[in-house]
Amino acid sequence: NKVVLAYSGGLDTSAIVPWLKDNYDCEVIAFVADVGQGAEELEGVEEKAIQSGASACYVVDLQEEMVNDVITPAMQAGVLYEGEYLMGTALARPVIAKAQVELAMKLGADAIAHGCTGKGNDQVRFESTVAALAPELTIIAPWREWDMHSREDLLNYLASKNVPTTASLTKIYSRDANVWHISHEGGELEDPWQAPSDQVWTMSTAPEQAPDAAEWVTLGFQGGSLTHVDGEEMSAVAALEQLNALGSKHGVGRIDIVENRLVGMKSRGCYETPGGTIWYTALRGLEQLVLDRASLRFRQELGVKLADLLYDGQWFTPVRAAMLAGVQSLATVMTGEVRLKLYKGQVSVEGRQSPFSLYSEAFATFEADDVYDQKDAAGFIRLFSLPSRIRALTQGD
Ligand code: ARG
Ligand code: SIN
Repeated sequence: NKVVLAYSGGLDTSAIVPWLKDNYDCEVIAFVADVGQGAEELEGVEEKAIQSGASACYVVDLQEEMVNDVITPAMQAGVLYEGEYLMGTALARPVIAKAQVELAMKLGADAIAHGCTGKGNDQVRFESTVAALAPELTIIAPWREWDMHSREDLLNYLASKNVPTTASLTKIYSRDANVWHISHEGGELEDPWQAPSDQVWTMSTAPEQAPDAAEWVTLGFQGGSLTHVDGEEMSAVAALEQLNALGSKHGVGRIDIVENRLVGMKSRGCYETPGGTIWYTALRGLEQLVLDRASLRFRQELGVKLADLLYDGQWFTPVRAAMLAGVQSLATVMTGEVRLKLYKGQVSVEGRQSPFSLYSEAFATFEADDVYDQKDAAGFIRLFSLPSRIRALTQGD
């Protein structure tokens, strides 16, 4: 029996390794997805896994795949779950779960395991991916099975198994970090009336502490893909890293929300998405120039639909492919440059230009032009408002 566990090196997944061996009489292989969570989390993760009793540990770098295959189309579509959340956790799940399944198949494993709680979205995302890509794999979700409920329980369990750990008894927040964002849940945040303490935020400077001088950055896009920062061509991952540094410095991209989880309950979370907020804002500025009204409305509808689909972990479905075909078609004209201003928690578009711009100063001007005859407007308005005229004439008032 072989189980591939999505392993992070944290207390939960460290306890899952011996628990699986005890309860499923299996060999446990640790799978670590590097999605840009940072050196601190990844350092020594292989040794940790082995110390916990894993027979092997595979660390797979998935940052490029996440940025190019998921984030880039998601930004073209303008996903924003419930109008605010840039979806950092959800955007990482398709590539993590897919790589985990691929490793399980390569190693001939019978099952995959994860450390998601039984109350959240992540369990749905992992298991929906397994269902779509390798339905023959068994799924083991220890949090839904064991009767441990606290960090103390987990620490006692590890001690009883002689597994060394550096985890502490108190860890206030549940966090999920990657190259796109960091999420914070738990602690005082569980009371939606409580303000997040300064301990919550880890990635960005508080807007109050941000520099007093504004800074500007210019993003370049080609067909909806981020290709340039301040005129310099670079990979989307490199661009995102640069934007994260810049956005963090200016306190850009913090949100504090109550959201609807797929499994029915509401949860409160704080999220930091500094670079992503700049990227998102820039593309919205660019599309104002290049999308006509009907195309923009359709892009917005796709954004809402794709956000729900990603949130719900339904990436490996035919409807996602259909949505992305639409997104890609709309994105063909998203080429150009956007200049943004960063200042004390805010990012705003200050300039935009594109070879596909539909904006014409000559047409919009109040001076004379030759495509728009103001006399035509009178007839247009008469027909456009005809229903109102007819109602008033037939029914009075
Ligand atoms: N509520 C957010 C989401 O569903 C964040 C979840 C964070 N996940 C975690 N394992 N800490 O996307
Ligand atoms: C979890 O429950 O494991 C984290 C939160 C979520 O998935 O929504």
